[in-house]
Amino acid sequence: MSALKEKLYEKIQEHRPRTTRLLKEFGDKVIGEVTVSQAIGGMRGVKSLVTDISYLDPMEGIRYRGYTLPEVFEKLPKPAGAEMPYVEGLWYLLLTGDIPNEKEIEATLVDMTNRRTIPRYVWDVIDAFPSESHPMAILSAAVMTLQRESRFNIEYQRGISKMDYWDSTYEDATNLMSKMPLIGAYIYNKLYNPGAGHRYPDSSLDLGGNFAYMMGKDKPYDDVARMYFIIHADHESGNVSAHTGHLVASALSDVYYATSAMINGLAGPLHGLANQEVLRWLQGLNEQMGGKVPSTEDMKKYVWETLNNGQVIPGYGHAVLRKTDPRYAIQRDFCLKYLPNDPLFGLVSKLYEVVPDILREHGKAKNPWPNVDAQSGVVQWFYGIEEYDFYTVLFSIGRAVGVLSNLVWDRALGYSLERPKSLTTAMIEDMVGAKK
Ligand SMILES: CC(C)(COP(=O)(O)OP(=O)(O)OC[C@H]1O[C@@H](n2cnc3c(N)ncnc32)[C@H](O)[C@@H]1OP(=O)(O)O)[C@@H](O)C(=O)NCCC(=O)NCCS
Repeated sequence: MSALKEKLYEKIQEHRPRTTRLLKEFGDKVIGEVTVSQAIGGMRGVKSLVTDISYLDPMEGIRYRGYTLPEVFEKLPKPAGAEMPYVEGLWYLLLTGDIPNEKEIEATLVDMTNRRTIPRYVWDVIDAFPSESHPMAILSAAVMTLQRESRFNIEYQRGISKMDYWDSTYEDATNLMSKMPLIGAYIYNKLYNPGAGHRYPDSSLDLGGNFAYMMGKDKPYDDVARMYFIIHADHESGNVSAHTGHLVASALSDVYYATSAMINGLAGPLHGLANQEVLRWLQGLNEQMGGKVPSTEDMKKYVWETLNNGQVIPGYGHAVLRKTDPRYAIQRDFCLKYLPNDPLFGLVSKLYEVVPDILREHGKAKNPWPNVDAQSGVVQWFYGIEEYDFYTVLFSIGRAVGVLSNLVWDRALGYSLERPKSLTTAMIEDMVGAKK
């Protein structure tokens, strides 16, 4: 058993009695309530999921295993000469709750690097897709083809005990996490860089470094990849992608089914796809300006036009956050250091000056501040990834770190099949006295 798996098992054994006790002794205690607007309005804020991997405070932003993002970036180990930490270190942290020491990160790197093999049929499936396909559809299908490799599926057919489900789920999750960046890079080269040919993974490089290498990108893109995957890793369990993964896996579907579903959820423009929408929307502004740099007044006009057309301003607002997303701030700091004079960064910075006031005046969005997606495309564009359809694939690789760690813990703690209750409209009208 790998050192990480051994530690994880210790943590699982420590944790299990807490969940058992809560269910047994406190199962009837009320921790929330559901209003009519929550039932109709997407269950916003309903306390009905449990995860110890991350927590999203509306004012502070995300914490992974109790650490804020700046703390995560400061405390996790980094490759020699790199500014950003190992993604493998985050994997260790999310699974165990502990920051890995030097020996632990070394062992995790070796283990994950050894899992970077992709069966030929995955490349064949990707190659068979028409080149006009959206990269998210290809990613979802590629992950799905890997399902035949599921250890959990084999072990389940053998009739293993529920207490052991976590073990093969951990194997599946670690395998998929190690392979996904390779699949992402292959999709990029197939769609946008066909002349480049396929680069085989370099086992001397960590996940972020190898991803940059396979994408054909020089330094500091390895750090960009690490930063990007780390900030996108998790945002509690209730967001569409994480929740979809959890929901599908609650039926004991293996991590390949669950991750493919999570990717499909992330592909919506109100969720992960918003990062490409920001760039598409900004291009619309540039076209309107006919090459002229937009003034603050031009921007205000464009924002109002979008709102008056009944559309949302992509990259702004959030279902939980009520301040500027720290993931936006981290990318902004990176831009200030590496690309302070980039025109696109200038445009996005100017938007930050006009959008919040307009959204407040518009009076609908509960959070007028930018989220992670407002800034993501700027960094990618600067390093030559201008095909913005691809941005959500990058988001998916990052999000898999959190979703897959959650799935391992779901199995470890025996979380139940999800099955909330629905009511009819007439029933609700009856319950609240709204019947005429
Ligand atoms: C993220 C998002 C889906 C959250 O939705 P939510 O929880 O329903 O947000 P709110 O409660 O603030 O929404 C209340 C109203 O404000 C609107 N609103 C929210 N964000 C808005 C935005 N950026 N631009 C315009 N209107 C917005 C909503 O569409 C909703 O309108 P409705 O009453 O006509 O349905 C929403 O803010 C949004 O669509 N943002 C743009 C897309 C985006 O950046 N997504 C990535 C999120 S990480």
